[in-house]
Amino acid sequence: MQRLQDRVAVITGAAGGIGLATARRFAEEGARLVLADLDEEAGRRAAEEVGGLFVRADVAQEDDVVRLFETAQNEFGSVDIAFNNAGISPADDDSILTTGLDAWRRVQEVNLTSVYLCCKHAIPYMRRQGKGSIINTASFVAVMGSATSQISYTASKGGVLAMTRELGVQFAREGIRVNALCPGPVDTPLLRELFAKDPERAQRRLVHVPLGRFARAEEIAAAVAFLASDDASFITAAEFLVDGGISGAYVTPL
Ligand SMILES: NC(=O)c1ccc[n+]([C@@H]2O[C@H](COP(=O)([O-])OP(=O)(O)OC[C@H]3O[C@@H](n4cnc5c(N)ncnc54)[C@H](O)[C@@H]3O)[C@@H](O)[C@H]2O)c1
Repeated sequence: MQRLQDRVAVITGAAGGIGLATARRFAEEGARLVLADLDEEAGRRAAEEVGGLFVRADVAQEDDVVRLFETAQNEFGSVDIAFNNAGISPADDDSILTTGLDAWRRVQEVNLTSVYLCCKHAIPYMRRQGKGSIINTASFVAVMGSATSQISYTASKGGVLAMTRELGVQFAREGIRVNALCPGPVDTPLLRELFAKDPERAQRRLVHVPLGRFARAEEIAAAVAFLASDDASFITAAEFLVDGGISGAYVTPL
């Protein structure tokens, strides 16, 4: 499929995980790519692999974000797709009882303020073109509570979801679609290592997944490519769950 032929797409957090899988999928579908990440080495490697341009950017810094979208516009002539995906989930963000203000603030900056900045600086280009598709990465924890808390992460993703809905509504008649991607748990190296050490912890989570497994990053990337493309032309301000049925489940199959 070549649904993104010659569209210019900016992807943040593109050096690994969901961002990298999406960069690969977008490239297969014909997009021209600008990849942003803090990790310069992995970011350059990713850009080389998919034939895109790498921009080192900290998405929590406004100057970096301005430069990122300027680069896309100047190098490729438009900003058609913004996949605002970079995010963190550090160990010191835990129960509200133990999470300090510094950890809380850092997660809010990287997960929520970054999405505010990326939308703020992508939308003006899209308004001028009269078209664009923005996909902001939230999470299934934006719609469900978890007893294994990461309080700032969850609150940040709830913020991403509400902000996305509002932007989707505000800019709908200007041809700009804005959707929140809500992945369930994804089988990343980090998750695998964590659960290899502690199978009981993995099982505690897996029991809630009707499909009985975690997602592959490629499955999330497929959903992003759909939302980015004209196949999703009537989808905006949506809470787009790609969660293996978690949010719909009460009792799961044995
Ligand atoms: N993995 C999951 O199970 C899961 C589930 C739901 C939502 N998500 C969300 O999906 C997104 C991607 O997650 P992932 O699992 O691919 O993570 P990952 O850690 O594999 O990749 C995140 C990338 O973002 C980059 N990054 C971190 N801080 C940055 C900053 N300030 N500026 C620029 N780049 C930065 C990292 O260097 C890394 O390359 C995140 O927003 C995450 O919260 C992940």
